[in-house]
Amino acid sequence: MNNPRQFAEAVGNTPLIRLRLASELTGCEIYGKAEFMNPGGSVKDRAAKYLIQDALERRLIEPGGTVVEGTAGNTGIGLTLVGNSQGLKTIIVMPETQSEEKQSALRGMGADLRTVPAVPYKNPDNYVHQARRLAESLDNPHGVYYANQWDNTANRDGHYQSTAPEIWAQLDGKLDGFICAVGTGGTLAGVSAWLKEQDRPVVTAAADPDGAGIYHWIKHGEIKSSGSSITEGIGQNRVTGNLEGAPIDEAFNIPDTELLPVLWDLIGKEGLYLGASSGINVAGAIRLARQLGPGHTIVTILCDSASRYEKKLFNPSFLTEKGLPLPPWL
Ligand SMILES: Cc1ncc(COP(=O)(O)O)c(C=O)c1O
Repeated sequence: MNNPRQFAEAVGNTPLIRLRLASELTGCEIYGKAEFMNPGGSVKDRAAKYLIQDALERRLIEPGGTVVEGTAGNTGIGLTLVGNSQGLKTIIVMPETQSEEKQSALRGMGADLRTVPAVPYKNPDNYVHQARRLAESLDNPHGVYYANQWDNTANRDGHYQSTAPEIWAQLDGKLDGFICAVGTGGTLAGVSAWLKEQDRPVVTAAADPDGAGIYHWIKHGEIKSSGSSITEGIGQNRVTGNLEGAPIDEAFNIPDTELLPVLWDLIGKEGLYLGASSGINVAGAIRLARQLGPGHTIVTILCDSASRYEKKLFNPSFLTEKGLPLPPWL
């Protein structure tokens, strides 16, 4: 769409950027889909757009209605902006450990933000359960919509319909591998499903941080995790509705000590000011490239901007305390 008339039409059609250092290092062509250039600043604008579009089409909600979601922040930002453009109110439940920058952005755009203590999913007070219960308790004649990005497959359908065909068209179908991290799994599942329907074999893979169970699930069939990560928005420990049945071939576990040097190079040498989940994605693309060998073309996702995490990512005492490498310029 060349001349978008409303917010949702400006989501997607992001550039594909060649990642010079990762490509030179591996002898492959490695590209990043610049999802940080979406109007709400992240890949989660796509999920937000399709979740709300689906709810409006199914008449679960109409202007004046309320959208409720549990989110690490980026989906909340997307939902609030799409919601604002459609006359919907948004209530966001978010763990208080998530970055201050995402919290202040949500308040600035008018979301009703409720921060809650960060507890595991199996605890009934986990933010996802709190969001669902809150939605169930509300009354609004125009509808209350619990978006449920985790299990609502309108999320992965959005990536199936938009992200994957965009990548394919941008490379004229010359693609050998796709890799990204998993939060809800919507991006990886939706893109993988579409790519597997094309007439060229494409290897699809997950890049999983420490503390997440998806690596072990893909390799050995059960969720198992250890350690922790400073990444936000990714790191899943259950098979979400969006991940169920997803055709994923391979997985790599990427610790923070591996992703941060890749991220510092992306920022300092390629001018790509990205958040840590993009670092894990590019580190994962390098691992996949080494596995496939030189001459292959691999795509990953550049999810959001470092500006969402400046108080953590560029905080020497925060990084040093965790034994993590600092950006060379700090
Ligand atoms: C920064 C960031 N990267 C990656 C993801 C993961 O995307 P998905 O939920 O499609 O798995 C998220 C999800 O919230 C995110 O916020």
